[in-house]
This record gives sequence, C-alpha cells and structure tokens, in this order.
Amino acid sequence: MKHQLAIIGYGGMGSWHHQNIRESIPEITVTGAFDIRPEVEEAATKNGLYFYHSLEELLEDTSVDMVTVATPNNFHKDLVISCLQHGKHVVCEKPVAMNSGELTEMMKAAEKSGKLFSVHQNRRWDKDYVTIKKILEENAIGAPYYIESRVQGSRRSMEGWRSYKVNGGGMVYDWGVHLIDQLLDLIPSPVVSVDAHLFQIFTKEVDDNFKAFLRFENGLSALVEIATNCFILQPRWHMSCTDGTAVIEDWECHGKMVKLSSDEKMEWTNDIVYTAAGPTRTMAPRPVHTTAQLPLPEVTTDWADYYKNIVDVIDNGADLIVKPQQALRVLRVIEAIFESQKLGQSIKCRI
Ligand SMILES: NC(=O)c1ccc[n+]([C@@H]2O[C@H](COP(=O)([O-])OP(=O)(O)OC[C@H]3O[C@@H](n4cnc5c(N)ncnc54)[C@H](O)[C@@H]3O)[C@@H](O)[C@H]2O)c1
Repeated sequence: MKHQLAIIGYGGMGSWHHQNIRESIPEITVTGAFDIRPEVEEAATKNGLYFYHSLEELLEDTSVDMVTVATPNNFHKDLVISCLQHGKHVVCEKPVAMNSGELTEMMKAAEKSGKLFSVHQNRRWDKDYVTIKKILEENAIGAPYYIESRVQGSRRSMEGWRSYKVNGGGMVYDWGVHLIDQLLDLIPSPVVSVDAHLFQIFTKEVDDNFKAFLRFENGLSALVEIATNCFILQPRWHMSCTDGTAVIEDWECHGKMVKLSSDEKMEWTNDIVYTAAGPTRTMAPRPVHTTAQLPLPEVTTDWADYYKNIVDVIDNGADLIVKPQQALRVLRVIEAIFESQKLGQSIKCRI
C-alpha cells in the first residue's frame, strides 16, 4: 500500500523532506502540508501539495496515514501527540522534544495509539559517521579509548527561531543532538559523567558554541564540540584507539588511519630531542617505518534508508532503527549538559 504523508511546518526542513521523499521513497506520496504562516501556501501548492488551513483539517483527513513534524522544537510535543491521537504514524524532527519529560509523554501517546513514532536522526547515515562505525566494527586500529567529534564553522549566525530560548534554540539542541545521538549509537555503554561548557559569543539567549566531555562506563571518553565562531578548523573526527589513530577531516571523508607496525620485533633507538628550553625522550618523533598509514575504509550509505525503514516497520513489522527510547537517552545527556553548565561542574549520571 502506498502511504500518504502530510508535513507540518513547511519551512526549510519540511520542504527538504518533501523533495527528498519524492525523489527517493516510492512507497510514500507527500500529499499535503500545514504551516501557521499563510504565506507558505503558495510554495506548498506550487510544489503540488494540498495546503491545510488548520491543524484540525489535517488531523481529520483520513487519507493521510503519516505525518512528518518539522516545526521549531517547542511545538513538537503537542503536534506529535495530536497526530498520534488521530491515528497517524509520526516522524518528528530533532530534537524531538525540549526535555525528557516531554518525550516521555509523547512515547506514552505512541504506545496508546499503536502507531509508529520515530525521530529524524538523519545523521546516522552521514558518510563520516558510518566510516567511524566501520573502523570500530573491523577493529582496524584496536580498541577505542577517546573520541573527538566536532562540527565547526565561522559564520556567527543562527537563523530565526534558533537564537530564542522559548523555541529550543542554541547549538546543543541544534547540532549537539546529532553528535550525541551518533556517540550513543556507537558506544555500547552508559554515560557516567558529563562536563560541559556552553558559550554565548554573539547570541543573547542561547548557546552559540559548546564543548561537552562525556565519560562512559566502559572506560571510553568523548569530546563533543559545536563551534560557530571558529576560524581555524579541526578535523570532524579524531579517534584514539589502542593500536592507532583515525582522523576524518570532513563530511566528504578525507582522512587516514595510522597504525603501529605489525612487526613487533622491529628495533629503533629511543632518541632524545632537545627543544629550546629542555630535552625530551617521550615526545621525540616516532620513526616513520614503525607505523603504517592506511586509507579510511570505503562505506556506502543512503539517507533514504531512514524512510525505507519507517515504511518497513509499518508494513512488515521490521525493527525500527531510530527508536524513541534512544532519543530519550540523548535528551537526558542534553539535560546533564545544561545542568553542568548551570552548576559549573561535572554531573555524575548513568544514562
Ligand atoms: N535533521 C536535520 O538535518 C535538520 C536540519 C534542519 C532543521 N531540522 C529541524 O527541523 C525543524 C524545523 O527547522 P527548520 O530549519 O525547517 O525551520 P524553519 O523556520 O525553516 O521552518 C519551520 C516552519 O514551521 C512553521 N511553524 C512554526 N510553528 C508552527 C506550528 N505550530 N504549526 C505549524 N507550522 C509551524 C514555520 O512557519 C516554518 O515554516 C526543527 O526541529 C529543526 O531542528 C533538522
């Protein structure tokens, strides 16, 4: 059966969903959109959609069995619950809610309705993330013990609602939610402490840059960083493993792995380096022949698999990839980040 989907919030991301579903997901037809801004009607109808003039009109339309919610974050909870109560399957944009309490209410509504409810954590399909995952799955450079995941820019701008607290603006909610979701998906262990520093360099109400240090119960730790005021960029990923290091520079996956040579008997002298103010043996450069440089593994990834999974869950009872329970963990880490910033200290937890 072909599913009929309506979009609530036909702005930047709502229209992105429309275009990309139309191009890649034959099992879904996007038929309509609702937006509180009447001027959006023109764009929606030009793109072949029916424009609903009220939320109720959309909710009462029984031809629509799926809804994608792509409004600013503070509206997600009520809209998702209303859609579920009217028997619609729901995909909600990230961050799915403002806090874990809201998401718990949404999850209860989903359970009661028996309908699908998922969060659009599309960056699990990013090539750079899938590459990091593959390096670990293949045990290419040993066991990971420290991971740095960052997204940096220098535009010093956060459009529209993104700079307002009431809308759930700020970089922790906007980009942090993606990077934290990736790390929780990657590392099979509870988060046991969170230490965060949020900055307001050019915004008045919300964070525009942040760093968060997460410790996991299995001994691994990770740094998550989002910067909008960074003029000398660092790599997207820097991963330290017991037998080597991996670096991914950017979304296109330029980068490399450097691994200890497998020839354990190889001999080399422990040189001393004399820096201007003193000698060091520990930090003397390692002879190049004692390591091997490897290319990053090749991966294929396709964002369309997100919606294909949604359809497969509805039609065939497949296992949902992005589960609300996982989004709940992400929101609890985000809450610990805000708490750490408020108290100026590390927060002990088990998330
Ligand atoms: N997953 C991703 O890669 C990604 C990327 C960008 C944005 N997003 C998320 O998508 C959502 C929307 O972001 P955006 O960049 O498209 O914002 P946007 O401002 O471009 O669009 C939001 C639209 O929602 C409408 N709207 C506001 N309140 C509404 C309501 N109560 N009912 C109906 N419509 C309403 C606005 O009029 C606007 O057209 C946010 O949750 C954001 O975090 C996700």
